[in-house]
Parts: sequence; structure tokens; C-alpha cells
Amino acid sequence: MKRRDFLKTTAVGTAAFSLLADQIEAAEPGELAPSVSYRQILPLNRRWLYSEKSSADAMKPGFNDRGWKAVTLPHTNKMLPMNGFDENEYMFVSAYRRHFKLPAALKGRRIFVDFGGVMTAARVFINGRDLGEYKGGYTPFSHELTKDINWKGDNVLAVEVDSTERKDIPPFGNLVDYLTFGGIYRDVQIRAVADTFIENVFAKPANVLRDDRSVNVRIYVQGKTERDLQLKAELLDGGKVIASESRNVVGTETQDINLTNLGAIQLWDIASPKLYDLRVTVISDVTILDHYDTRIGFREAKFTPEGFFLNGKHLKLRGLNRHQTYPYVGQAMPARVQKRDAWILKKELHCNIVRTSHYPQSPHFLDACDELGLLVFEETPGWQHIGDKAWQDLTVQYIDTMIRRDWNHPSIILWGVRVNESGDNHDFYTRTNALAHDLDDSRQTGGVRYRYNSERLEDVFTMNDFGFPLRPPNHPLYLNTEFSGHMYPTKRGDNIERLREHAHRHARVHDALASDAKYAGGLGWCAFDYNTHDYFGSGDRICYHGVSDIFRIPKPAAGFYKSQCDPSEEIVLEPAFDWARGDENETFTNALVCSNCEKLVYYVGTRKIAEVEPDRKAYPNLKYAPFTTNLHSAIGKAWEDLRIEGYIGGKMVIEKKMSARGVDKQFIIAADDNELVADGIDMTRVVFKVADEFGNVKPFSVAAIQFTIENGEIMGDNPFALVGGCGAIWIRSTEKAGKIRLTARHPRFGAKVIEITAKASSPLVI
Ligand code: GAL
Repeated sequence: MKRRDFLKTTAVGTAAFSLLADQIEAAEPGELAPSVSYRQILPLNRRWLYSEKSSADAMKPGFNDRGWKAVTLPHTNKMLPMNGFDENEYMFVSAYRRHFKLPAALKGRRIFVDFGGVMTAARVFINGRDLGEYKGGYTPFSHELTKDINWKGDNVLAVEVDSTERKDIPPFGNLVDYLTFGGIYRDVQIRAVADTFIENVFAKPANVLRDDRSVNVRIYVQGKTERDLQLKAELLDGGKVIASESRNVVGTETQDINLTNLGAIQLWDIASPKLYDLRVTVISDVTILDHYDTRIGFREAKFTPEGFFLNGKHLKLRGLNRHQTYPYVGQAMPARVQKRDAWILKKELHCNIVRTSHYPQSPHFLDACDELGLLVFEETPGWQHIGDKAWQDLTVQYIDTMIRRDWNHPSIILWGVRVNESGDNHDFYTRTNALAHDLDDSRQTGGVRYRYNSERLEDVFTMNDFGFPLRPPNHPLYLNTEFSGHMYPTKRGDNIERLREHAHRHARVHDALASDAKYAGGLGWCAFDYNTHDYFGSGDRICYHGVSDIFRIPKPAAGFYKSQCDPSEEIVLEPAFDWARGDENETFTNALVCSNCEKLVYYVGTRKIAEVEPDRKAYPNLKYAPFTTNLHSAIGKAWEDLRIEGYIGGKMVIEKKMSARGVDKQFIIAADDNELVADGIDMTRVVFKVADEFGNVKPFSVAAIQFTIENGEIMGDNPFALVGGCGAIWIRSTEKAGKIRLTARHPRFGAKVIEITAKASSPLVI
């Protein structure tokens, strides 16, 4: 078959492009077999060397790094305890080195190194040559290595990482209520491409609700100019091409290809987040020079004066703010763990939106939001402070990078183009809004402020309204982006009255937001407790503002969010109390249960003590109002197990039992995943608790849990002293496939063992 015919007749499948470098034919551009694109992505997350000290010599190729520590990425420059540490411990300049050889087959291509995120500034050297410093820890950056590659032997990529709070780099310059930690904490890869290559693709669905729906594919080509090229855009569903269009062009100017006649497509929605694949190919004569794959979803997302509409249907936004930080490792969590947070927000807390407070977050997290149907408000890094012109220029650059990195995510519905809670700055924010609209005219902008009368340059007035009653919407498009938080910090092990009030505060705000369509909805502060400076939080470097704790273990306020879903998704019954007789002033006069049932029936022992409806008086606007009940006198003197039955449509659909005995009955331990990849990177969370006989946590259980592990690494305290009766650690795979065996020993209940399969990872190419 002639090459040209081959191109015409071959459906370009993913497999054709996923060749490993050692399978690539040795060829100069123009000679490659037509089924193989020149693009090769070589992950570079393993085999790094790390030192807590940097020096000019350490950046040189010949430096003796034999004593350095072998690490994998994501990597934190400093392991820290969960709390009570001094944040200066991670604020230093460290160094990383990576030796590599490139397959000869890649010779002739342009070689880049792509960093996903390095906190906070990174100066990169290739074989001793300084490629410059990138300032900013939350956005990706790349360097071209082509001219410096030694094709005959060893190459050294050396990175000097400055993790101090530099005033010239956003978010710094003043106080910031979160810790940024340090290190090369996101993925790194080598990208080999032809001399003409695709730099980016923005695939923008249009008119998705109409029959003439289309996808406008904007293609950014780089490299050799003056070349005849064929650009081809294809929309695929499960590998099957459903629309395809080609265009002949000369040179590298940005081009638009419009894919039309798509036929029936399935919308991306929060309940059924259907994703399509989009592939762009650049062809010169008969040679495929490059391809670029991305995923898109067809959805229409609009803030209007009557609230937010997704695909033409009104949707009250109900969500939480999320920091991407974790205990022990700061931000250095691999894909699986980042994705798990999206799962927790969507499947456990039943939120429909998350705000990536206060910076662009892990691409893996955003991928999971696309896959799970969780809407996203993504924003530029910063916290209250605006710096000088150079600082502002960096912010503009971050917004540019954030939008270009993330514009194909259907989950993202709003770009945050104001530094969180910063004051007005007409020129600066006129610039950031114009940039966002210019790059992406399909999404609205927001800019989070706490001043009600601040200037609105953004499309949506995004307001942190921490007071109650809430302020009325003072702009036609109005979204409440933060409430609760520092007004009522609550630890998971706090007194039950506080935990209950914490839940009520979130519920009250959502009830008020439900009262008026002009509120598009709200996002509470916040999803998870997070590490912060001594100036904020409880003085132990934690802000206990989460509805779940720093391990993502729920507090009663999480039960409120969870209970707001349709029962077809999950039937929820979450008591906001422990079944303990004398631990509150008004014992059970205000028992709170968050549930989406229509009726609850309470029994003590076999005695029915109450039959109650949702508290529609306190919560007239919520679809699933919480149940608040005075059980005090009904309980009487007898003290027996509590049983709560939940009813929908007259049928009992859920039941919850709580023990009256007050005896620690079992030690429960569970991992989020039973399979990991054996690459020394992959991790999963292991949660453990002491519980009554029905599985309810015993909040005053204080045992120290001792762990041992085979073929894995523990990221966490060991022994771990239970916090509020529970705790969590993360475990990391090694590079050895097989079984990871974690033994957790409770002093009274003995040992529990968890086995996780470590699957062989794909072979290391470089
Ligand atoms: C807000 C701020 C958040 C967090 C919160 C605590 O003002 O935007 O980052 O500090 O307060 O409640």
C-alpha cells in the first residue's frame, strides 16, 4: 500500500501513537512511517537525586552526586508532621538532579522538558547550561533541551528549587492563609517532537443544545514556517471517529477547524459526564509530524440573573473550597490521591462544584472532576495581596498559563481572574478580565472579593460573605464563594455541641441561598482542614475549617453536604451526635440528623420514642432539610441502643444503630484502593478507627497504632496516636511488583492486615 493511501484509509487509533521510545524507528523527519507520529512523551518521575543543599557546583554535569538521596516525583522537599511544626523548616533552597540518556531514534527531533509544578521557583540546568528561572509554584513550564542533548552518553538535568516565600512571586508579599510547601511536587516529562509540532489545542464546543452543534478546534502549531501542512481534527467516541475535517495551510499560524454535522451527541452533565476524545494531527506530505490528544465534553454552562444553568437546566450550586495540601507531604501527592479528593467531594459529600482555592490545582484532580461530573471554579494564585507591576505581570502570566493548560476541561465553568480577596485595582483587573475573555470567550469570569461594594469587572460577582443573615445579591450574576470557615473553626474531636452548630451553620447558609434564585449558590469554606501559618488557625499550623478533617475524614458538617443529594444517588442518614448520655448541656434537646429521607423514626431499645419530619421551620428552602428533634424527655431514664429508621414514600429505606454501651468494640481499617502501580510513586490512603459494635467511631479512643509494612513505604506518623478515635496514613508502592502488606497493631484489638496488589509498572524508557 502506498503511503498516501495508507493515510487515507487508516483510522488513527490511540495504540498507533503509544510506542515506546525504543520501538521508534531510527528516522529523520520526513522518513517516518506514516502511522507513527514524531511525538514521544517520556515520563521523568523516577530516578531523581535530591539534596537539601544546593550550590553552583551541584548544577554542573560532572558534580559528584553519589551521596544524594534517590527520590521519585511528586516529591516534597521536607517530610513534616501533621501539625505543630515550624513552616521555616521547608523554606530553603534545595537541588535535584536527573541523569538520562535519550534513545538515538529521537535524534533530529526537538526535545523539551515539561515541569507540572515546582514550588516556588525553579532554575533549570541542562548539562551545565542555565535555562533560566521560572517563578511560581502552581503553573507548568517547559524548557527546550534540543541543542544541549548529548546523544552519545549521559545528560544531567539539574534543578535548583527555591521554596522560600519570595515577595516577588505570587501569592507572596504579605500574609497568606495556607502553606505552600516545597519541591518538585508535580510530574515531569521529556517531550520529543518533530521540527513542526502542535503546541496546544483549544477545542470549544458551540451550540451544544441545538442540532447544529459544532466543535471549534483552534490549533497552535510551532516550528518551521513556510511549510505546506495538512491539519486534521477528529472527534472520537470510544475510538470511533464521529467527525473529521482537514485543512491545508502554509506555516504555523494559529488555525481554526470547525467540526460540524456531529449528529446526536451525549451531553456532559453532572449526572452523566460523557467525555469525547479529540485528536489533531499535523501532516506534511505523507508524513504525520505530530498529533495532540485531548478530551472534551459538550455542555452549556451559564450564570444568569436567575441563577446558574447547566445545559439549559437550573442548578443551584452547592460546593466547597479545596486546598490541594495533605499532611506529611504537603502538595506532593500523586495522581491517584489527587483524584480521590474529587471523588470525595462528588461521591461522598455530594457537592456539584468545587473551587480550587486559591490557585490552579493538579491536572489529575481536574481530570477526575471531568470524569465524575464535578463543576470547577479555578482561580489564579494569591491571597489578599497585590504586589508591584512585575508581580502583577506574573499574575497575568499565570492566568494565561492556567487557561491555556485547562481550557478543554468541561468541568471548569468559571475562571477566577482576581487575587482572592484582594482590593480593587481597576487597571490590573481590567487586564486580567480582558485576557481571559480573549483567550476563552466561552466561559465567564469571576473574581473573589470580601468587599461587597468593590468594583465588578468580572462577569459573575463572586463574594465571600461570612456573615449571617447573608447579604442580598447586589449584582445580577451573584455567587457566594466562601462562608463559615474562620467564623467557626471546628475540630473533628470537638465537643458535640460545637460539631452540631458547625453543621447548622453550613446548612443555614445553603438554606438562605436556596431562598432566592438570584443566588447562583455557594461554596463553603472549606472541604478539608489544611496546614497554615502561625498567624492563622489554631496555632498548631492547622486551620480547622474543613467539613472533613485534614485526613478527609468527615465531621458532622460533612453529613449535611452528603444529605443534599437525591435519594436515587444515595440514601443518607447522618446523626450529628454520639450516643452518649451526659456529654452536652442540653442532652438531646436538639438532636440533629442530616438526611434526605422524608421521615425518621427513633427507637431506644425496642421503644419507639419519636417520629419526625424534616425541620422545615428552621430550613424552609432546602429540599432536604435536616431533622432537629427534642429527644430528651422521650429517652427517659432507660439507656439502651439507639436505632433510627429513615422512610421514603412510606417505606423504610435506611437504618442506623448506635450503641449505648460506650465500649470500644472493634478496630476497623480500610484502604481506598486495593491495587497500586509498582513505580515507587503511587499511593493510597489507609483510614482506621475504633468503633462501637455498629461501626460508629468512638471519638475518645486514644490508642497508639503501630504499623509495619512489607514492600511499601508509610507516609505518616508511626505509631499514630488516634485523633478523635480515627486517623489515616498513606502508603506508597516500591518499584517491586507483588503484594504490599500493611500490618496495623492496636494495643487491645491486636493486628489487622491489609494487602494491596502492586501491579508492574510500564518499563522505564529513560
Ligand atoms: C477567607 C479566605 C480563605 C480563608 C478563609 C478562612 O477570607 O479567602 O483563604 O483564609 O477566609 O475562613
